[in-house]
Amino acid sequence: MHKYGFFITFEGIDGSGKSTHIDWCIKFLKVHNINVIKTREPGGTIVGNQIRDIFLNYNMNAFTESLLSIAARKEHIEKVIKPTLKKGIWVLSDRFNDSMYAYQAGGRGINNIILDKLEKYANIDLIPDLTLLFDISIDISKNRLKKKSLDKFESENSNFFEKVRNEYINLAKIHSNRIMLIDGSKSIIDIRNILMNKLITLIKNFTS
Ligand code: ADP
Ligand code: TYD
Repeated sequence: MHKYGFFITFEGIDGSGKSTHIDWCIKFLKVHNINVIKTREPGGTIVGNQIRDIFLNYNMNAFTESLLSIAARKEHIEKVIKPTLKKGIWVLSDRFNDSMYAYQAGGRGINNIILDKLEKYANIDLIPDLTLLFDISIDISKNRLKKKSLDKFESENSNFFEKVRNEYINLAKIHSNRIMLIDGSKSIIDIRNILMNKLITLIKNFTS
């Protein structure tokens, strides 16, 4: 039996399908008798959700955004993610630190190395076992987001999202062992098949 639960993160630009697919994965895992929780960033804790509220609703300096993202993540890791994984329960998170690299470094222009250092100072050392990165074009994203009221990031222009998307693709190249790049423009059914195959392999590793 695997001692720790698996930690899986869901990433991608807004509208890429993270929420849709994380919910399906949770159901799939539960049907296969895996103990699992769903969480998100920024958020996942009382403090993290307060930070989320400020983060998504107020314009601020990009560095301030980065510090808030890290503050929320530190709480999340120490209070929720690590204790849960230790119990052998899987954790699926709607966004984690790749979002900060994509949005604050890629989108806003904060230096990656500074973000690395800040995470090190905060002793953030948790690496996901798997990151599912849903990639879609900016046109598809804008189209999918038409139906909902937009938050601060979702209201950004296409140029911002191009930079975020490019940084995600860059991260997928750098961390190719961890990040699985998925074409988020495929049908939901096609994507579920990809996810199902991946989850079945993980479940086998976990239970063998
Ligand atoms: P995110 O959490 O990444 O912002 P959502 O899962 O909320 O994205 O999806 C945004 C919208 O796009 C929702 O209306 C969802 O039903 C739709 N959607 C998600 N994935 C697909 C897909 N592969 N094909 C068509 N529509 C999709
Ligand atoms: P998200 O959870 O994707 O919202 P929704 O519920 O509308 O799908 O929203 C979080 C937003 O915060 C998203 O636009 C990405 C951004 N974000 C950052 O800019 N940096 C970060 O470190 C994180 C975790 C999120």
